[in-house]
Amino acid sequence: MMSPRISRSLTMNDILNFLQSRNSAPRLVAPAPSAAELEQIFRCALRAPDHAWMRPWRFLTISGERREDLGELLEHALLQRNPNASAGEREKARNSPLRAPLVIVSVVRISEHPKVPSVEQRLSAGCAAHAVLLGAEALGYAGVWRTGPAAFDPTVMSGLGLNDDEEIIGFLYLGTRDGDPKRLPELAPADYVSHW
Ligand SMILES: Cc1cc2nc3c(=O)[nH]c(=O)nc-3n(C[C@H](O)[C@H](O)[C@H](O)COP(=O)(O)O)c2cc1C
Repeated sequence: MMSPRISRSLTMNDILNFLQSRNSAPRLVAPAPSAAELEQIFRCALRAPDHAWMRPWRFLTISGERREDLGELLEHALLQRNPNASAGEREKARNSPLRAPLVIVSVVRISEHPKVPSVEQRLSAGCAAHAVLLGAEALGYAGVWRTGPAAFDPTVMSGLGLNDDEEIIGFLYLGTRDGDPKRLPELAPADYVSHW
């Protein structure tokens, strides 16, 4: 729910401008959203469109020293995929969770449903992940959605405690933007839209 202060000052144009200018941040530093702010962010995710109310998504939050444990898991998984990984590649995998103060693993649980194919469940989870980014940005934070081979690696999935019917939709790196936002590209809707 919007605070009275915000609801008085926000115009429709502010909201449209916000939605039209979400901008990923590759470099993120502390602070990350607080527990109370994360509650708000996840409330945004819980409004993702969801065919048949399957609620196919869940999220893991990883912060502080647990990011180092995630780094170890990512390095271990890399070595299983590629025993010849170089020292540089291993270090990159190990340090990748340290790129932000908070990593949210966005997870989808795929189940059989007579009307909702698995692709729709993944799409719903993607919408929920997007809503996490939007919610974080609305609170003045920034983030970036990353995947890469680790996101599809069974060793990573089981190390994170996922069940056999679950998949990783993305690693959402969240924190405070370090540096200026990148320039938004000039895109014309007409290039992507036609009348049928
Ligand atoms: C499913 C998905 C996976 C992504 N994986 C990566 C990734 O592994 N590495 C990366 O640099 N960007 C990745 N991106 C792209 C970034 O999240 C981001 O969208 C891109 O840098 C463009 O920035 P923008 O969102 O500000 O336009 C991914 C995006 C999506 C939707």
